[in-house]
Amino acid sequence: MDIDRPAAARIYDAFLGGGHNFGVERDFAEHLARDLPGVTEVYRENRAFLRRSVEHLLARGVRQFLDLGSGIPTIGPAHEVAARRSRDFRVLYVDNEPLTAAHSKPLLAGDPRVDMLRADLRDPDAVLGSAEAAQLLDLREPVALLATAALHFVPDGDRPAAILAAYRDALPAGSHLLLSHLTGSRAPTATNALCRHYAASSDPLFPRATGEIEGLFDGFPVLAPGLAYLADWRPDPEQRAGSGYRLLFGGLGRTR
Ligand SMILES: C[S@@+](CC[C@H](N)C(=O)[O-])C[C@H]1O[C@@H](n2cnc3c(N)ncnc32)[C@H](O)[C@@H]1O
Repeated sequence: MDIDRPAAARIYDAFLGGGHNFGVERDFAEHLARDLPGVTEVYRENRAFLRRSVEHLLARGVRQFLDLGSGIPTIGPAHEVAARRSRDFRVLYVDNEPLTAAHSKPLLAGDPRVDMLRADLRDPDAVLGSAEAAQLLDLREPVALLATAALHFVPDGDRPAAILAAYRDALPAGSHLLLSHLTGSRAPTATNALCRHYAASSDPLFPRATGEIEGLFDGFPVLAPGLAYLADWRPDPEQRAGSGYRLLFGGLGRTR
């Protein structure tokens, strides 16, 4: 563990205004925001997308969530969104960053509907075969995989499509995939700036073209309104215009 280098989980927390970050992450956020004014809105848009889609999934009857690359569950995490709508839900957070898991466990203690697993999302057998998954999730029933702003930390060599396919094949029909992912398809200059900054962090970025992101939904036919830049995906009626950068692209799919 190298706490002298900024980590994606705590950079995200710093941009969201959370209290689980260090000086290195706050400095990182300050430098990035200087290079890309308004970038904070991209992080907020991602969190708002997560909220809208978890609400949408709950309305569709989904009650089990496996949040891959969850970060620290504060400032609007899935279980808080779910708790506003339902008493009957379960959320298993998964993150491989050691301090993220350590900080999260006590935050979630006392709520039997939620837990945090320290694991690498690239190892579906370890995630799905964990004691935490056995305790919290009924894997005979559909699960919503939440993979928001996480797979762009997985290089091509680790075969992100194959990772998602392994989860898909292990889960019952009717399971969902929610994905948001960095792309340079619309704003290559801003994406390159983001990648330059993250190259100095513990978590370099691997943006993908929108067509490649669509390919990650293999076996998860995409539901209406299709894939979109996040601010355009089922926007709240009162939602103000997004950051304008159009850096994160995604949507929701469901296995048959
Ligand atoms: C930007 S945060 C996204 C947080 C949350 N998913 C959201 O959208 O609000 C990305 C998280 O992915 C985690 N992460 C990156 N690579 C991972 C891996 N291979 N396994 C598990 N977590 C990973 C990082 O530690 C970080 O906490």
